[in-house]
Amino acid sequence: MTSVVGLDIGQYGSKIGAARNRGIDILVNEVSNRATPSLVAFGPRSRMIGESAKTQETSNFRNTVGSLKRLIGRTIEDPDVEVEKKFMNAEIVKTGNTVGVSVNYLGEKQEFSATQLYAMYLAKLRDTAAVELKSAVNDVTIAVPVWYTEAQRRAVLDAAEIAGLNCLRLINDTTATALGYGITKTDLPAAGEPSKNVAFVDIGHSDYSVSIVSFNKGSLVVKATAFDRHFGGRDFDFALVQHFAKEFETKYKIDVLSNKKATFRLTAAVEKLKKILSANPLAPLSVESIMNDIDASSTMEREQFEELIAPLLERATAPLEQALAASGLTKEDIESVELVGGSTRVPALKSRIQDYFGRPLSFTSNQDEAIARGATLACAQVSPVFKVREFSTTDAQLFPIKLVWEASADAAADEGTEIVAFDAGNAIPSTKVLSFQRSEAFDLEARYANPDVLPGGINPFLGRYTVKGVKPAAEGGKAQVRVKARLNLSGVLNFEGATLIEQGPEEDEVPAAQPMETDAAAPAAEGADAAAAAAPAEPVKKVRKTIKTPLPTSAAGLGLDASLVNEYREKEGQMHATDKLVLETEDRKNALEEFVYEIRDRLEGSWKKFSTDDEKDKLRSLASQAEDWLYSEEGEDATKSAYVERLNGLKALGDPVHLRFRETDERPKAAAQLRELLNGYQAKLANEEDVAHIPEDKRQIVIESVANAESWLSNKLASQAEKMPYEKLSITSADILKRRDEVFNTCQSIITIPKPKPKTTEAPKADETPEAEMKPAEEVPVEGAEKEGGDAIDID
Ligand SMILES: Nc1ncnc2c1ncn2[C@@H]1O[C@H](COP(=O)(O)OP(=O)(O)OP(=O)(O)O)[C@@H](O)[C@H]1O
Ligand SMILES: [Mg+2]
Repeated sequence: MTSVVGLDIGQYGSKIGAARNRGIDILVNEVSNRATPSLVAFGPRSRMIGESAKTQETSNFRNTVGSLKRLIGRTIEDPDVEVEKKFMNAEIVKTGNTVGVSVNYLGEKQEFSATQLYAMYLAKLRDTAAVELKSAVNDVTIAVPVWYTEAQRRAVLDAAEIAGLNCLRLINDTTATALGYGITKTDLPAAGEPSKNVAFVDIGHSDYSVSIVSFNKGSLVVKATAFDRHFGGRDFDFALVQHFAKEFETKYKIDVLSNKKATFRLTAAVEKLKKILSANPLAPLSVESIMNDIDASSTMEREQFEELIAPLLERATAPLEQALAASGLTKEDIESVELVGGSTRVPALKSRIQDYFGRPLSFTSNQDEAIARGATLACAQVSPVFKVREFSTTDAQLFPIKLVWEASADAAADEGTEIVAFDAGNAIPSTKVLSFQRSEAFDLEARYANPDVLPGGINPFLGRYTVKGVKPAAEGGKAQVRVKARLNLSGVLNFEGATLIEQGPEEDEVPAAQPMETDAAAPAAEGADAAAAAAPAEPVKKVRKTIKTPLPTSAAGLGLDASLVNEYREKEGQMHATDKLVLETEDRKNALEEFVYEIRDRLEGSWKKFSTDDEKDKLRSLASQAEDWLYSEEGEDATKSAYVERLNGLKALGDPVHLRFRETDERPKAAAQLRELLNGYQAKLANEEDVAHIPEDKRQIVIESVANAESWLSNKLASQAEKMPYEKLSITSADILKRRDEVFNTCQSIITIPKPKPKTTEAPKADETPEAEMKPAEEVPVEGAEKEGGDAIDID
């Protein structure tokens, strides 16, 4: 079945939601954690991603890469990348047009683009989900920061493709939270009544976003969104590291910041301290062997912490102010302030937000998992396999987008050369149709209208669209061309075709004329020509039909070339296969080691009676050989097949011994099961009244089958009883259970032939029952295929 999965890719950790068990579950990873560290690491033999990357982070920090969500879709010149360097240890390089890293992988320097890194991580989450869901994962929804621009959104979509995922849509983090909140609320005002306005505030490890959302029954509209991209838990950690580094300089005469590993250790320790301070007035700090064999320790009071982060706290209300102002609402209009994200646990932050709105804060949604849950719901909404309660979600565009074209002699006098097609606050999704008068091919370009508000150094260019095949109208003069631009569910801009609009020849009006086709779903952009006028009200004898002809077009946008996506996808597949082989090799090596150790114990214990002296000698010698080899240079680092070959050699000798040992238990159990079946049939046959309706020849089949099985079992068991425990077995539990199945298959349908009903109705006589209709009593009718429309998810 197709998966329904929602991913919250965090800077600190990521969560996977899945529609399962008629609801939404957060899936656990291989070590049963509900969040997976957002890290990708490179080693001499394989990559380590998620938990395994975290485990080796301190010892391999130069080849461990975080900031996946913050690097993707950026260029090396981007000032935000410079900020990221503060938090990263891997070497940042330029790869193609984008930023990437240079790491040591498989013993050599290799470069990977941020899109590839993100794809590696997505592939890991895909595998984690597949293990948990016990099925392949394809369809997903990915939650992204509200401030992601076109370049970042397209890069995430490319990464999903590289990871072999079908990303049904992207959803903004706070919109996902709002969706999860709204869909479960039963007390929302009816449509048409004043909306319930809620502020959703998410402060995570690296960023802060806030959305003001209006709810009515069955719908939400994002009124406004604001953010601070450089405000989160890691900024608090950074301030703490600076503080303690200074303290340790005097206290221990060490310069922690000069040593990457020491800084790294201190960062981990201050994060712990920060969390303790959220619930306690005082917290201890201790870092064993921070550097130069010094164990460093200290304490901090909450007040001191708040002083330290005062510059950050001062910025805490700015996004709230911006969002509120953009929404056109007042504080009094906000009925609830919902907090999510790990850093909203910091009391000083909570009180700033609470004071700003002047109302108690709410924690209705799961603070850590709300985004993943909302993203999963969004996936379920667009996926055909699950039904989910109707709930319409309208997001708002953050950065205004304009469409620009060259002035043309063809153009209408008032045409201008650009138009803001999707202003800030414009609904998402949304389609706009622009109308041009042209007599030849022309280009359109989409750009962010206000580059100053873009995050970091994002290029305002979004895409170029060329409309071809335009020629002067049939009667001479300019042709009318309509171009459709769409901001889709993912907040990505696409040109969706150009149409030539022509007036057909004059025709007689058909009496029951329908109004002319208009593009109802696509409101004309400001300044666009409302070409498709309504049908004339007066009866006119002659009319002209509008003829619409699609025009050839070509587009160039910000996504990767299909060929590069394929190349990355192939590379990802190879790296994935290498990782898998390394894991499997390790697994077989461990299995061989374990088997070698166990054999010695077993030969003295459980296997002793069941093995011949010859077998014992051979097993001991093979085990010693394998052990010596395992500790030789060759065996330390061999191929999977080399381990498997030795393991199989030992198993070929050991398995028969183990079987003899195990059979002493299993055989009597199986024999008892067969006997129970045979006794049951015999008892039934013995009761004449019970079987009188069964035709004689059929009864005979049962009688013989039971008798044969009985004598077979007693003979075999007798022969087995005469054997020594180490001799080849005469009969195994598997043989017995197979015989049991055979007897059952032969007899059950006969013994359960229903008795004819008393004479009241004309029941067919037992021996007239067509054989094809006989069903073994235990057979359950096979349920029809899954109902169309799929399962309903109960979201409660
Ligand atoms: N009890 C706590 N007190 C203070 N901070 C906490 C607490 N628990 C978690 N945090 C901090 O919350 C941050 C992680 O939050 P979260 O999981 O929401 O981040 P993320 O989603 O990975 O990051 P982002 O949204 O910025 O990408 C970390 O900085 C962590 O130290
Ligand atoms: Mg987050």
